[in-house]
Amino acid sequence: MSSENQPQEKLQKVLASIGLASRRVVEDYIIDERITVNGEIAHIGQRVNRHEDQLLFDGVPLRVSPELTYYLIHKPLGIISTAKDPQGRRTIVDLVPPEPRVYPVGRLDKETEGLILLTNDGDLTYRLTHPSHGIEKEYLVKVGKKLSRGSLRQLREGITLDDGLTSPARVSQIQDGVVKIVIHEGKNRQVRRMFQAVGHPVERLIRTRIGNLVDHTLQSGQWRELTTLDLLHFEVDQVVD
Ligand code: URA
Repeated sequence: MSSENQPQEKLQKVLASIGLASRRVVEDYIIDERITVNGEIAHIGQRVNRHEDQLLFDGVPLRVSPELTYYLIHKPLGIISTAKDPQGRRTIVDLVPPEPRVYPVGRLDKETEGLILLTNDGDLTYRLTHPSHGIEKEYLVKVGKKLSRGSLRQLREGITLDDGLTSPARVSQIQDGVVKIVIHEGKNRQVRRMFQAVGHPVERLIRTRIGNLVDHTLQSGQWRELTTLDLLHFEVDQVVD
């Protein structure tokens, strides 16, 4: 459909329909000048095109276009996280509905499990994968034996890998040989290489959080669609410039 043919809808209806808040509260947001449409302060009754117009709430993009889809999926072991595999193997993208076509945001190794985002929103993908944003990622790491205090300190302070020093990380051993680590970089195979460098090859690696996105109910291979509110809080917490 060309943009001229796409329906114009009342702003407060669009905002309520995406679950931002009730119509009444949404109207208060508009009156309080918290909403902008294409960079201009919005007003009650304004008509917008949800496919085209850029709506912000407190400066954070509201993802109102029905064409934009976001899935949070728990990647199973052994599945690759690229959109397409030259060898024709099943990829993470084959685990969600085929339409609209979505793409992984960043990567997990084939042998890594846990949370990964899939979307067709190129703008969000760019924001999340750009190194300057440094979004936090939390992993649960299982190694063969207990780490010493010295190894934990090294992981925390930074490890020199062949592509540079890792940034300070939050690291805690939650039981002997099981470590929670929070990093905000995305060097290739970073967690595995950090643990290898302190003499503890990784036996199992699970990503348990991306920014503030956590979901303990998702089993391996399961996914859920993210709501507007999930995305709004995610952006507010993590990727506002
Ligand atoms: N670090 C790794 O080593 N592997 C992943 O898949 C993600 C982070």
